Parts: sequence; structure tokens; C-alpha cells
Amino acid sequence: MRDLFFHPDFEESFSYKGFSLRVGSVNAQKREKISEALTRMSPETIRNRFMGSKSGFTEPELTRLTQLDGITHYALGLEHEGKRTDGIAVARIYRNPQDPKTADVGIIFVDEFQKMGLGTIMAKLLILAAIERGIERLSFSYLPQNLGIVKLVKGIHRPEVLTEGADGAVMILNLKELCVPQLKSELSPLLPEIENYHSEI
Ligand SMILES: CC(C)(COP(=O)(O)OP(=O)(O)OC[C@H]1O[C@@H](n2cnc3c(N)ncnc32)[C@H](O)[C@@H]1OP(=O)(O)O)[C@@H](O)C(=O)NCCC(=O)NCCS
Repeated sequence: MRDLFFHPDFEESFSYKGFSLRVGSVNAQKREKISEALTRMSPETIRNRFMGSKSGFTEPELTRLTQLDGITHYALGLEHEGKRTDGIAVARIYRNPQDPKTADVGIIFVDEFQKMGLGTIMAKLLILAAIERGIERLSFSYLPQNLGIVKLVKGIHRPEVLTEGADGAVMILNLKELCVPQLKSELSPLLPEIENYHSEI
């Protein structure tokens, strides 16, 4: 796994719109950051990600969210390095056991860091992490009123909408239709290290 660009110890700092940020692979050390970040999210944000309300994570949930094998379940976390270091976002992929070339995506930002373009950056990084794991399709389940995730995905590439109903919808992003060099060139002004990423689909 050390040969992966997004390996278990992957971590990079960068500046964005005046904020000092750090992106890295989620691991067991991030339990508290993930738990605390939930307390800074609105009920709407939580509903859009978890399809219901959630006032906190149980210990088994925190274990499931942070102790990742890196291949069937991988996640990137984003932290803001201000007066203290706060967790501000997580973007994760869970491979479908019946179809390992497809992975479900979960992505969430604390409210104060939404609509700044960071969701798109995290999604592009997650796409590159998925491609280097041999994943070909990303599946996004979302509530019909969740315009944010629809705009984010459509801003990257046109998805296929699988199902759309009053209770929820699913869209699929076909990673084979994406251009890896273009994703890298869009990310490299922020994260020059991305030039060392070499996977192709
Ligand atoms: C969905 C989410 C990840 C988007 O992250 P983000 O950092 O706000 O995304 P970006 O800033 O890159 O925005 C991408 C586009 O979506 C738009 N957008 C983001 N949130 C929006 C909202 N609530 N309503 C309408 N448009 C929205 C942005 O304006 C931008 O559009 P543009 O390209 O025309 O400028 C974030 O809003 C979030 O955490 N939501 C709660 C959890 C969730 O919905 N997860 C997805 C289900 S797994």
C-alpha cells in the first residue's frame, strides 16, 4: 500500500483563500476530530449526509469511520489549522462487496466551510484515490433537495442518474470518462505533490 499516492500516511498542507488547510488519509488518530466536527454541523448538513438526524457517533461507529483498510474503505479528511486544528470535512469511499469496481461516496463539510470550492477539491482528490484502487464508478446517494452534491458532481463531469424519487436519488460518476492529467493539473496549483500521482484508469 506504500506505493499508493494516497497511502495510509498521506498528508499535505496547503493554503486556500487565506486558510491554512491540511488534507490527509483518515486513520484511528482522527476519532476525536471527526466526533467534534459533527457538533459544528447543522441538522440539514447531517441529514444530507446520513439521511437522518444524528447527535453524535457511537464508539463502534467511530471505529468503523476511522479504522479503514485503505482499499475497501478509504477516506480523506480535511483540517483547518487555525488557533487550534479543527476537522472540517471527510470524503470517503466504500467499495460495494458485490461489485468492487463500484464504490459509494460519503462527503461532508462543516457548514462554515461549504460553498467555497473545497467540496470540489476533495471530490477530485477522492476520485484520484478511487482510480488508483481500481474503482471505475462512484455512486452518490442523496436526498432530492440536496442541490449542493448535484452541482458539485455535475461541475466535475456529467453523472448518470440511476434512480430519482421523493425519498432519495442515486447518481453514478463513470471514472473511465474522466481525464486524470486534467484532474491533476486542476489540483497541482494547490497541491504540487499531486504531480507524483501516476495511476491511469
Ligand atoms: C455537498 C457538499 C459536500 C458540497 O461541498 P461544498 O464545499 O459546498 O462544494 P463546492 O463549494 O465545491 O460547490 C460545488 C458547487 O455546488 C454549489 N453548492 C454547494 N452547496 C450548495 C447548496 N447548499 N445549494 C446550492 N448550491 C450549492 C456551489 O455553489 C458550487 O456551484 P458552482 O460550481 O456553480 O459555483 C457540502 O455542501 C456538504 O457537506 N453537504 C452536506 C452533506 C452532503 O450533502 N453530502 C453529500 C451526500 S453524500
